[in-house]
Amino acid sequence: MLELRTVESDDWPLWRELRLAALAEAPYAFGSTLAQWQGSGDREERWRARLSIPGAHDLVAFLDGLPVGIASGVPGEGAEKVELISMWVSPTARGRGVSDCLIQAVERWAVERGATTLRLSVMPDNRKATALYERHGFTDTGEPGELLSDGVGRERVMAKSLAAV
Ligand SMILES: CC(C)(COP(=O)(O)OP(=O)(O)OC[C@H]1O[C@@H](n2cnc3c(N)ncnc32)[C@H](O)[C@@H]1OP(=O)(O)O)[C@@H](O)C(=O)NCCC(=O)NCCS
Repeated sequence: MLELRTVESDDWPLWRELRLAALAEAPYAFGSTLAQWQGSGDREERWRARLSIPGAHDLVAFLDGLPVGIASGVPGEGAEKVELISMWVSPTARGRGVSDCLIQAVERWAVERGATTLRLSVMPDNRKATALYERHGFTDTGEPGELLSDGVGRERVMAKSLAAV
């Protein structure tokens, strides 16, 4: 059975476990690195701060009672724009619609808070995630995303209009 739970700053140990697993398993997918969140970067107050972004919606997905995925909706520029970030599903739970469920939940949250556009950034060579987002109706905005660590490439910025949700 697939369930989603909204998490808050007191849930930081669970979020930490999943986020560190994500950064270790899929370093190609994220702007943040494992090194930034280990050692001196691995502090309770930092994890709590990550789960205390004003107006954000942080989700953990459980499959048969085990935590297997995360995603967040965070406020963007202006009240009408929100962003989907930190999407990750454990390899053991992939191909079972966990990410579909997470995206739908973030969309519902976005609509409830009156947003009209859900945006996200994806690494240009992350074909699997890009295909997932396209399947959910996200399209390329053509806007230049964050510069990649190679100093040349940029993240791809995708967006979806929520008017029809
Ligand atoms: C991208 C990601 C979130 C997709 O999660 P998911 O819950 O597996 O998504 P889906 O269930 O829709 O499956 C994705 C595809 O993998 C296929 N698949 C089937 N079984 C699978 C398995 N055992 N393992 C991996 N993929 C499988 C699915 O059929 C689907 O293909 P389709 O889109 O052609 O139908 C997940 O692969 C992931 O966490 N990747 C690493 C982190 C990442 O890229 N995050 C996005 C940052 S922008």
